[in-house]
Amino acid sequence: MNFLDQMKKRYTVKKYNPNGKIGEEQISALKEILNLSPSSINSQPWNFIFVNGDILKKQLAEKSYFNKGKVLDSSHLIVFQVLRDTESFEKQIEENLPEGSINYYNTMVKPQGETAIQSWLAHQVYLSLGVLLSACAAMGIDSTPMEGIEPDGYDVILNSDKYKTLFAVAIGERDETDANQPELNPKSRLKAEKVIIEA
Ligand SMILES: Cc1cc2nc3c(=O)[nH]c(=O)nc-3n(C[C@H](O)[C@H](O)[C@H](O)COP(=O)(O)O)c2cc1C
Repeated sequence: MNFLDQMKKRYTVKKYNPNGKIGEEQISALKEILNLSPSSINSQPWNFIFVNGDILKKQLAEKSYFNKGKVLDSSHLIVFQVLRDTESFEKQIEENLPEGSINYYNTMVKPQGETAIQSWLAHQVYLSLGVLLSACAAMGIDSTPMEGIEPDGYDVILNSDKYKTLFAVAIGERDETDANQPELNPKSRLKAEKVIIEA
C-alpha cells in the first residue's frame, strides 16, 4: 500500500483490543523514529516516555478523563513532554548546538519573552507527534493522540521534574468493533480546495 492509502486508512482509535500487543521490534523502531524528529534549530526540547507496565498505565488512565479506556486497553502509552524551564533549555543548547543555532535562538526567539519561548518549545514537541502518527500509519500500528489528559496529574505519577507533560498517544490494535474506523465512520475533512491553495 502506498503512503497516501496508508494515511487514508489511519484514524483515531476509540476502542482498543486489550490483547493486541505491539512487538518489541516495532517499539524500538518507533523510539528511534521519534528521536529522529526534526525541530527548529535542532532544539529537541523533548522527552518521550514509553509506558508499558499495567500498574503505571492504570494510574495514568485515572488521569485521562474520557480517554481512560483507551489508555487501559492500549499496548503502550507514549507521553510527550517538554523541558519545563527556559534555563534548562538554554543550558541544553549551549552544550549541544553549534554557535549559529544558539545565535538564532538568542536573536529571534528569546527576545519575544517567556510565554513565546514556552510556546515555541511546545511547537517542536507537536511536530514529533506528526512524525509518530505518520510512522504508525506506515507501520500498520493503530494510534490515538490525546490532549484530553491531566498533564499535572501525569507529572506527579511519572515523577517529572525537569520535563512537563503536554499530551500522550495510545498505540495498539483496534478492537474490531471500534465504531470510529473509516469503514464505519468515513473521514471528515474540510474540502481540499478550501485548504490547499495554488498560488
Ligand atoms: C493534538 C491532538 C489531540 C487530540 N486529543 C484527542 C483526545 O484526547 N481524545 C480523542 O479521542 N481524540 C483526540 N484527538 C483526535 C482528533 O479528534 C482526530 O485526529 C480528528 O478528529 C481527525 O480524525 P482522525 O484522526 O480519525 O482522522 C486529538 C488529535 C490531536 C491531533
